[in-house]
Amino acid sequence: MKNKKGLVFSGARPTGRQHLGNLLGAIQNYVALQSEYDCIYSIVDIHALTTVETTAGLRENCMEMALDWLAAGIDPEQSIMFIQSHVPQVMELHTLLSMVVPMGKLTDLPTFKEKVRMHPQNVNYGLLGYPVLMSADILLYKAEIVPVGIDQAPHLEFTREVVRSFNYRYGTQVLVEPQMKGTKFTKVLGTDGVNKMSKSLDNEIEIAADEETTQKRVMTMVTDPARLRRSDPGNPDVCNVFSFHKMFSPQEDIDMVDRECRVAGIGCVDCKKLMAKHLNASLAPLRERRRELETKTDQVLEQLYDGADRARKIADQTMREVRDAIGLPRYRA
Ligand code: AMP
Ligand code: TRP
Repeated sequence: MKNKKGLVFSGARPTGRQHLGNLLGAIQNYVALQSEYDCIYSIVDIHALTTVETTAGLRENCMEMALDWLAAGIDPEQSIMFIQSHVPQVMELHTLLSMVVPMGKLTDLPTFKEKVRMHPQNVNYGLLGYPVLMSADILLYKAEIVPVGIDQAPHLEFTREVVRSFNYRYGTQVLVEPQMKGTKFTKVLGTDGVNKMSKSLDNEIEIAADEETTQKRVMTMVTDPARLRRSDPGNPDVCNVFSFHKMFSPQEDIDMVDRECRVAGIGCVDCKKLMAKHLNASLAPLRERRRELETKTDQVLEQLYDGADRARKIADQTMREVRDAIGLPRYRA
């Protein structure tokens, strides 16, 4: 690594099969960055532990996510793709960073408050330290650029503060301040047309579902709520089906829907069928690749292990520098 424009790192919790929000809001961005940057992409299973009630399905979810990432175009030759816990140095760095993090900073973070609201019965120490672990992810690899959704902006700012505190406290430059890189699609709405697409809200459209399931899912999408009857004119500007047309349909169909919806020339059912057709067509190559990968999960595991080996080399080097900067007693090499 280290011959392109810079180092990119991003991570996502292993949520299993990915949906269109993940694809447009994260994965496509990961894929695009590979040609210009050295990229490291992590399936952050330790982060997942902060909120899960059971680890049943965790391994499967890591594999499902890896399959979707690979099918979408993450290239494990070019980039490093690995499972967070396979490089345990991140937990060591997490502990060392925690010494320069004031408690109040963690309790004040909006992301922490939100998680407390969502999981009031499980406010554990790990949850409080979630952003410190995320900082450790980024800093362990000295990443310069971190592509994430806008909801992660407080964590990125937090990471930058950790770098400044650490480097100042120990009079060093070992840690590098990362820059956030926002994504084009910050909030893909779910089938309800109101909330961010998310598995937990059951409003997602899976990228690797079959065509029929996709069409069925699209048919449940909420359209312009003011359009009650087929004969009512609609407003595509407030319709989530139309925003999907804009992402997946050819320009002539986007123009046609835009025009005909407003004069009740096309009904919601036909409009959705058309969108599902284009959505299925644009996902077809990804699904084809995924089907092939599903028959080779042993090979995918090898790629993940390989990624972890490469990541561990970078991590070991950083940890040597970090321990030295702190002034910890040296041990036999
Ligand atoms: P999550 O599944 O929430 O851990 O998210 C994984 C990645 O996908 C993050 O980078 C999110 O910002 C992105 N993401 C998830 N859901 C959406 C959505 N509905 N719209 C846009 N981006 C999303
Ligand atoms: N907190 C991120 C999220 O919920 C996931 C994450 C963990 C991450 N470690 C990271 C993202 C490091 C970018 C860099 O989406």
